[in-house]
Order: sequence, then C-alpha cells, then structure tokens
Amino acid sequence: MKKILFVCLGNICRSPMAHGIVRDAADRHNIDVELDSAGTSAYHVGEAPDPRAQKTLEEKGIDISDLRARQFTEADFDRFDVIYTMDEANYNNILLLAGDENEESKVKYFLDELHPGERRSVPDPYFGGDDGFENVYRMLKGASDELIKKLQ
Ligand code: 4NP
Repeated sequence: MKKILFVCLGNICRSPMAHGIVRDAADRHNIDVELDSAGTSAYHVGEAPDPRAQKTLEEKGIDISDLRARQFTEADFDRFDVIYTMDEANYNNILLLAGDENEESKVKYFLDELHPGERRSVPDPYFGGDDGFENVYRMLKGASDELIKKLQ
C-alpha cells in the first residue's frame, strides 16, 4: 500500500485540503492508500483545519473536521513513500532534512502531478480572502485527479 504525506507551512490550509480531497477520491474509487499531512512549522500544532478550508471542502461534500495539525519530523521519511510539498519553501525545507538520496527522492511538488516538471506552487491562502481557498481547491483537485489515475 502506498503511503503519502502532504506538507505545507501551517498544516491547517493547503495540506489538510490536499489530504481530504485525495482521501475522498480514494474512498470513492476503493483505492487502498495511507494518507497524512504535516506542516514544516509548529505554529498550529493540534489545531483543526482553518474554518475557511473546512467550509470550502464542505461545499464539495468533503469533511476534514477530523484532521489535526502536526509538524513534519525526520521520521516521516521512513513512514512515507512520497512527500508532496505545496510550495517552493516547503520543498526546500523538507529537502534540507533528507538524510540521503533515497529520502531526497521522496520529496516532490504536488502540482507536478498535473504539470510535470514545472515545480508550480500552491499559493498560501492564509492571509487572503475566501476566494483564495476556492483557487487552492481547484489546483489541488486537478493534481488529485492525476494522482488517483496513477494509483488505480
Ligand atoms: P498553510 O497556510 O501552510 O496552507 O496551512 C498557512 C497557515 C498558517 C500560517 C501560514 C500559512 N501562519 O503563518 O500562521
């Protein structure tokens, strides 16, 4: 079974949204996969996803109220096969923690699933308005659809 971790900065907006979108699709397609998300920072450890992230996904029929923020640790390199980062800062920060080439090879940009090799970032919606979350949803849904095709 594939084990996938999604990583952003706070683990309350982008990575729990990615986690929830992929979890929902995997459930619907009966795909057995282990999923989790984490933040590079400890700012919001223990918190539920941002209410705006929860509301955006609730409107699509996806419930992420059960998720709680945690910080990425080096042990995650052992626990997961793929570590999908949301932006360039997350990517660089996680790569710095990798202990060898095998661990480095697990670190990817999530949007590369949709736009291979382009290293596109999911913009941080935390300090913006509600429309930022809808934009993030569309980007994550596109990448999730490609990931689900690969996992099938
Ligand atoms: P996330 O968004 O990385 O998508 O969870 C953020 C959440 C919180 C903060 C920054 C980004 N913050 O600075 O507290």
